[in-house]
Amino acid sequence: MSVPASPWALLAELTHACPLHCPYCSNPVDLTRRSRELGTAHWAEVMRQAGELGVVHTHLSGGEPLLRSDLEQITTAAETAGIYTQLVTSGVGLDADRLAALADAGLRSVQLSVQAADPRANDRIAGRPSSFTAKEKAAALVRDAGLPLGLNVVLHRENLDAIDAVIDLGVVWDVDRIELANTQFYGWGLLNRTALLPTPGQLARARDTVARRRAGLPGRPELVWVVPDHFDGVAKPCMGGWGAVSLTVAPDGTVLPCPAAASLPDLDPPNVLDHPLDWIWHRSPAFNRYRGTDWMTEPCRSCDMRTRDFGGCRCQAYALTGDATHTDPACRLSPDHALVRSLVEHSEEGAPPKPWVYRRAGRRARRCPGPTG
Ligand code: SF4
Ligand code: FES
Repeated sequence: MSVPASPWALLAELTHACPLHCPYCSNPVDLTRRSRELGTAHWAEVMRQAGELGVVHTHLSGGEPLLRSDLEQITTAAETAGIYTQLVTSGVGLDADRLAALADAGLRSVQLSVQAADPRANDRIAGRPSSFTAKEKAAALVRDAGLPLGLNVVLHRENLDAIDAVIDLGVVWDVDRIELANTQFYGWGLLNRTALLPTPGQLARARDTVARRRAGLPGRPELVWVVPDHFDGVAKPCMGGWGAVSLTVAPDGTVLPCPAAASLPDLDPPNVLDHPLDWIWHRSPAFNRYRGTDWMTEPCRSCDMRTRDFGGCRCQAYALTGDATHTDPACRLSPDHALVRSLVEHSEEGAPPKPWVYRRAGRRARRCPGPTG
């Protein structure tokens, strides 16, 4: 098994704190408390080591990274290390002074989350009143600052039928890119899977809409469709392969091959407080556990697709089968594929909304406001 010389991207989860409560959040259900977050000097050292390791791009993410008062210093550290920085934000709390300070620190681009184009639907999914207004203001600030702006819209049962409106919103807000990302069922998203899983009909209509709008747009905004993986019988090359192109540093310094890997038992993930990033990437047992193809069981082991999709997602294999070495049940060749088929078959067209659990620190608040709020 060969170890990739260097990761391309670093997902820096600076904090799990967030003003929004989206039920599809991929953060772990056990959110890291603020008192356990890495301090400024540690994050600056993470960026220095990441630059030395060869990382070229970092997503400054969370939770809501604007809640870190030292975000400018962390951005400067990344810039000094030669790493391109993108802020991944809800937009809540962004004002002109903060954005100017971040741009001065070296911030290169912004990815803004939007839950829906309709303000009431947006605020209901986000679990926060007036959050749409904050996003609208943030988009205008980023445009005025001349920074590249992308929208990220996580898609699920309650907003998939309104993709046209989301694309219209992106045109009005003059964004460069719209990422239409079907929900990945990890963390809070997994907890809420029953409520979020779309129907096959919704997905087919949404795909048609994206194709129609792509044909009608003059090349901007770019529309990116992140495929769902419960519906086509095909496993996705999750994270581009385990320990192949990216790494995640969690708020407390835990380093993971993917943001959801903390859910895997016995992984024993390393921490930047104990080991250098170079050792973690090249030598740590956690990063080598599912690298390459040696770990695979059948049918992946003898499948021609194994070096292209890497057997799919380890976290999903564990979540659905209890064994992370199993073939991802999303694959139609998996002996466990019936688990995914039965989830999809229970996702009915026209069924009433199901309750979901809003993401909250320290407690789980169950609430089902229904589509009219
Ligand atoms: Fe991919 Fe494994 Fe399915 Fe083959 S059997 S297509 S390698 S997930
Ligand atoms: Fe962890 Fe796919 S989310 S390997």
